[in-house]
Amino acid sequence: MSDKYRVGIIGCGGIANAHAHGYQGIEEAEIVALADPVEVALNQFGERYNVKNRYHDAREMLDKENLDIVSVATWHKLHAPMTVAACARKPKAVLCEKPMAVNLGECNEMITVARRNDVKLAIGHQRRFNSAYTDARELIGNGAIGEPRQIVCRGGQGLLNDCSHLLDMMRYVLNDSDAQWVIGNVERKTERYERDIPIEDRSAGIVGFDNGCIGMLLQEIAGPNYQGGIIYGSDGIIDLTEARVRLLNNKSTDWEERPSDGKNQHVAQARELVEWIEGKTEHRGDAKHGCAAVEIIMAIYESARMHEVVQMPVRTLSSPLDVMIENGDLPVERPGHYDIRAFLLRGEAMQP
Ligand SMILES: NC(=O)c1ccc[n+]([C@@H]2O[C@H](COP(=O)([O-])OP(=O)(O)OC[C@H]3O[C@@H](n4cnc5c(N)ncnc54)[C@H](O)[C@@H]3O)[C@@H](O)[C@H]2O)c1
Repeated sequence: MSDKYRVGIIGCGGIANAHAHGYQGIEEAEIVALADPVEVALNQFGERYNVKNRYHDAREMLDKENLDIVSVATWHKLHAPMTVAACARKPKAVLCEKPMAVNLGECNEMITVARRNDVKLAIGHQRRFNSAYTDARELIGNGAIGEPRQIVCRGGQGLLNDCSHLLDMMRYVLNDSDAQWVIGNVERKTERYERDIPIEDRSAGIVGFDNGCIGMLLQEIAGPNYQGGIIYGSDGIIDLTEARVRLLNNKSTDWEERPSDGKNQHVAQARELVEWIEGKTEHRGDAKHGCAAVEIIMAIYESARMHEVVQMPVRTLSSPLDVMIENGDLPVERPGHYDIRAFLLRGEAMQP
């Protein structure tokens, strides 16, 4: 019998491939089971990664497979229920995709159930394992740009999707500084959804971090959108993308460019999960960071709802965007439900 960590994956779609590559890239883990209610997704994935034990029902997989590690790779709405279901069976670790959940109440439940069952819970903000991001974090930590004063990012696809990565990036490069206050606003004139979650058409958020730096995020305003951002300091500038970090400071006459080492971030994410299980290190994707990114998003929505600067922590556990929609505070001018990710669905499905 293999002494490798037994891995099960819930949700066999796009991002699950990255999880599979991650686990297949390390010696210590073996993917032993998969769950997905969509036959074609389950079987294609099972054939691709040579996994024999396949389930339509995730809970049946969790009950039968005695898993050490569970990946949750479903759409956002199922992150909390699937993480809760997995933790209840006491695996050693759960790696859940971002955004951690769709509101803070769910994030709290996930953290509680993980603690209650002694499960290590990480969230898949895999760019924390991109060497360019880590270089930027170290350069800032070593004073290469003096005091970090401002980070500017441009994202798309709603705050919870792309922008959860951007807000997590802000915290990561600032040595995981916490947000103290947030002010923001949203526009929602269409019935826009992303992976079955109502999202805004456009939004903007300004975040005051406890180290004095100000984060600024524009969502579908003034593109182009990309992962990364520009970090302005008292003595220099860092321009960060997934491909490289560029530095200009008072010691240089031109931009210094450091390319990302191109190593697979998902393999590094999986490796650190095993090291975390074995007590050798913390995991840089610890759920507390996934929760912090969701909290900033909820603070932007709460600022729009309450017309105020939101002081952290956010105390509204529902999504303030959902509350605004339900209350009629964001009247739709161009009616008609549409999901910008409907193309991911299979067969005749247009909504999950
Ligand atoms: N970290 C990243 O950079 C990154 C990139 C892409 C997606 N994601 C995240 O990954 C998640 C999944 O996105 P995706 O693009 O892979 O979606 P997808 O539609 O390609 O895959 C989701 C899969 O979940 C399955 N599923 C639905 N209900 C299920 C259930 N009850 N039990 C088990 N499986 C079920 C679907 O059949 C589908 O195969 C999203 O939350 C998204 O935000 C993260």
